[in-house]
Amino acid sequence: MSFAQYQKECQQRIDKVLKSSLINQHAPASAQRLMAAMDYSLFNGGKRVRPLLVYATAEAVGASLEQADYPAAAVEMVHAYSLVHDDLPAMDDDDLRRGQATCHIAFDEASAILAGDALQTQAFSILSEANNHLSAQQQLTMIQILAQGSGLFGMAGGQSLDLEAVDQEVDLAYLENMHKHKTGALITASVLLGAHCQDNVEQTNLLALRKYSEVIGLAFQVQDDILDVTSDTQTLGKTQGADEANNKPTYVSLLGLQGAQQKAQQLHEQALSILLPLGSPASRLKDIADYIVARRH
Ligand code: IPE
Ligand code: IPE
Ligand code: MG
Ligand code: MG
Ligand code: MG
Repeated sequence: MSFAQYQKECQQRIDKVLKSSLINQHAPASAQRLMAAMDYSLFNGGKRVRPLLVYATAEAVGASLEQADYPAAAVEMVHAYSLVHDDLPAMDDDDLRRGQATCHIAFDEASAILAGDALQTQAFSILSEANNHLSAQQQLTMIQILAQGSGLFGMAGGQSLDLEAVDQEVDLAYLENMHKHKTGALITASVLLGAHCQDNVEQTNLLALRKYSEVIGLAFQVQDDILDVTSDTQTLGKTQGADEANNKPTYVSLLGLQGAQQKAQQLHEQALSILLPLGSPASRLKDIADYIVARRH
């Protein structure tokens, strides 16, 4: 199966899981607006890279897609929440996301804040729900992984570093740390969630997978910085040039476009060499590393 086909199948699969995990919630009549804002933010055409990583990692360690369904849905919910809040006027103040009005424009700011809050808690609800495919210990480990990836030591911490850096001159070490947290942390969480779908994952494999996730997590944000400069609003589905307009430090602003592209290539090569010992079961993870630095949006 081609990677494009595999990606499409994973996208269709996760959309079903996400739909059922929201539809199963019987929102009180007064919360219909919140439910609509959550639905809008989850089903507006995301690439589903994080669920893809959960599925591909589960496959790499010999776990099943069924085991990966809930963790994949949980990390995508946290990601969707992070984007809704990232677009708020108090943060990046963006009005376009995935080719549509951002949540706070389509609804209102309060609804966007609440949609983010509720998507986050729904993610942990899904992870802790009775589950025939994962042991209670696996579920507990996954809750810990996602919490670490999301909070002070993960995405939220990185977003804080990002906001502190606006209008400031920061060095490469600051930028790398910021990118590793704001974007890398949830990518690492995705890979670790996939790895723990297998109850007895080998320590050496776990270490290699973590390293791989850290490298592609940084590459993902470097490519996001590059596309903000080289792409266009229509292709991106978000406002091109937003980083420069907001005076944000990025790999392009610090290293120049060529320097940023070289960095992405280096990280890509590093990711492939880390995967080598994992052999053919990790071939989809290689495809994802290729995709992350080649993607156009
Ligand atoms: C955008 O993430 C925000 C970053 C962490 C760079 P994605 O590029 O994965 O966004 P969607 O989910 O496909 O819209
Ligand atoms: C966002 O980084 C990282 C998140 C945790 C949401 P960006 O601010 O660069 O993401 P985009 O470009 O708006 O998608
Ligand atoms: Mg941002
Ligand atoms: Mg943003
Ligand atoms: Mg960006």
